[in-house]
Amino acid sequence: MTAEPSLTFAYEPNATPVAANERAARLVAPQFGRVFTDHMAMIRYSDDKGWHDARITARAPLSMDPASSVLHYAQEIFEGMKAYRLADGGTALFRPEANARRFQASARRMAMAELPEHLFLESIERLVEIDRDWIPTSDEGALYLRPFMIASEVFLGVKPSAEYLYMVLASSVGAYFKGGAPTVSIWVSQDYTRAAPGGTGEAKCGGNYATSLVAQAEAIRNGCDQVVFLDAVERRYVEELGGMNVFFVFDDGSMATPPLRGTILPGITRDSILTIARAQGITVREEPYAIDQWRADAASGRLVEAFACGTAAVVTPIGSVAEPQGRFEIGGGGPGQLTLRMRDALVAIQRGTAPDTNGWLHRLD
Ligand code: PLP
Ligand code: COI
Repeated sequence: MTAEPSLTFAYEPNATPVAANERAARLVAPQFGRVFTDHMAMIRYSDDKGWHDARITARAPLSMDPASSVLHYAQEIFEGMKAYRLADGGTALFRPEANARRFQASARRMAMAELPEHLFLESIERLVEIDRDWIPTSDEGALYLRPFMIASEVFLGVKPSAEYLYMVLASSVGAYFKGGAPTVSIWVSQDYTRAAPGGTGEAKCGGNYATSLVAQAEAIRNGCDQVVFLDAVERRYVEELGGMNVFFVFDDGSMATPPLRGTILPGITRDSILTIARAQGITVREEPYAIDQWRADAASGRLVEAFACGTAAVVTPIGSVAEPQGRFEIGGGGPGQLTLRMRDALVAIQRGTAPDTNGWLHRLD
């Protein structure tokens, strides 16, 4: 890999940006992932030139050769992060260096070129600075950033591509769950697993999401919002949801979350909650938790809360869990106290209303 020390981003302003009044209308109640800003970032890579051709340009359709290898062998990775409007009027990213490093780790797993951290950060900073007016002003509003990279070599042989296209899209978002659902219901997938040891579970590659969709569709058919996957070996231990990590809260005030053993995504929200909880003196265990235990603990009252967490979903309480043999509720089905405390603490740091003692905010002003 050739990693140039720096690249200058060309700026090609959108000649026909969305008018301010039309933009304001689109920002009123944006559905997740449907409202896009005027620009996008792009950087190209080839084995012979290294990283080159960095630009911020008008968001537009791509033209690509149908033999581009991503279309055949799915060499694709992505990230998800947000730019927030701060209480003092500024703009900030939350732990973007962590996304940059995870993007590199995903690239290594998928045998793709690793984008240097400073280029990842600069592509995002430049795009957010240019499209800052697209950050909604609503309480849960943010600019969701979607860096991604595809294998762009025109070749049908099965091998790591010699060319890649890295891009960043920006999308104005509100709450991830429709109507800002106070709790979500979870379907326990029986027939499908998400990732096996040695597989791609800890990489953020599109393929992981493609294979989760049949299980997510099954969750919807069973009247649930989301699917939760069990481990692929014993089919017992809770891993994560299709697009979120999971936490459990017990009656002694402790918390637990599945450990990082290569099959789940190392969520940045997960890591932030571990840090926040421990700083508050809460005992948090990273340990396997079996679905049988979850069911038994919910029945006995030992388990009092459960929640899902991720960039898109922030912290979302889990109200009930459904399996073929029946459904069980958690803590009466409503949002739990510790769950809401974790969400408030996280959001306060992200919005700049609580002290940023860990240096997580990356201000753009
Ligand atoms: N797990 C999966 C499968 C995800 O897609 C996500 C979302 O990015 C997460 C967990 C949470 O990760 P993060 O907190 O970094 O957004
Ligand atoms: C995120 O939270 O950023 C995700 O990527 C989850 C989902 C939208 C894929």
